[in-house]
Amino acid sequence: MFTKILGTGGYLPQQVRTNADLERMVDTSDEWIIERTGISERRIASPDETVASMGLIAAKRALEAADTDPGEIDLVICATTTGDKAFPSSAVEIAGNLGINGVPAFDLAAACAGFSYGYCLAHSMIMSGQARKVLIIGSDMMSRACDPKDRTTIILFGDGAGAMVLGASDEPGTLAVHMSADPQFGPLLSLKNPPRGSNGDGCYLYMKGNDVFKHAVVSLAKLVTKTLELGNLTDKDLDFLVPHQANLRIIAATAKKLHLDMSQVIVTLDKQGNTSSASVALALDEGIRSGRIKRGNTLLLESFGGGFTWASALVRY
Ligand code: UT7
Repeated sequence: MFTKILGTGGYLPQQVRTNADLERMVDTSDEWIIERTGISERRIASPDETVASMGLIAAKRALEAADTDPGEIDLVICATTTGDKAFPSSAVEIAGNLGINGVPAFDLAAACAGFSYGYCLAHSMIMSGQARKVLIIGSDMMSRACDPKDRTTIILFGDGAGAMVLGASDEPGTLAVHMSADPQFGPLLSLKNPPRGSNGDGCYLYMKGNDVFKHAVVSLAKLVTKTLELGNLTDKDLDFLVPHQANLRIIAATAKKLHLDMSQVIVTLDKQGNTSSASVALALDEGIRSGRIKRGNTLLLESFGGGFTWASALVRY
């Protein structure tokens, strides 16, 4: 038995925040942001939107693409670190709104690596016979987690949700998965929950950007090498890299390590920024819906985030 991607979906809020908008908020420039990150604009959720409401739309689109009725889903995983409440979880809320009852549903906190962690877990649950079809969602509202006065973080992040239905299959499918964490670097990238009774001031995302950047490049190089080994493939077998969308320079370094031309890399951060746990799912959905990624292509999905956490999936689409 194998697992296969049956369908994907994505959702981006309507409001666009451009680099020109950020020039009015903090001491920065369009040139600096594009040169250092590759980002031109990102989407910002409206006050009435939540991680669950964004995830629900992405999930509906993934179910439709997978030609799957919500009643066929055996497990719902929502990767997020910005849900509006601890419980009921965003996954349970999404399941409820889809009419999915009597199956496990839970949120998964692995920061920007969340969706890839969810993929690894969904694959394992199917391979162990505990599920046939799993709905994996990555949804985050990082714009609200960033200090609007902090130019080192507010320029990077956007809001959005991506989703996928992973199903049991007679043909491959998922060729290898890997996930890991290294707690010693936790202080370099953190997001505290506000203490009860506080108004949340001071509980914004903290990132020592340059250090995170260096670790991301090194860890992702090791991660992609290991994942190809696990799947008994080489970089020559890859059609596309579907990376976490944190910084174009990090993505380019990983592509170079894999000897891939940038035309073989799905890049969405120019229009979406870093959407944390949604980023890989949104990039994959964009690659598929634009017609670039086709059935039979070999893909490498990878992500790296706070914790540090990192995860990957080598996939025959
Ligand atoms: O998704 C989870 C993982 N996250 C990541 O992978 C993000 C990793 N980090 C990065 O993407 C990059 O480190 C950043 C984009 C955050 C920063 O780029 P950098 O090339 O590492 O810049 P830096 O932090 O070394 O700062 C260089 C200069 C500093 O000024 P001085 O000290 O040289 O005078 C900063 O104060 O750029 C300054 N700077 C800015 N200038 C204009 C920092 N942010 C800004 C800004 N606009 N927004």
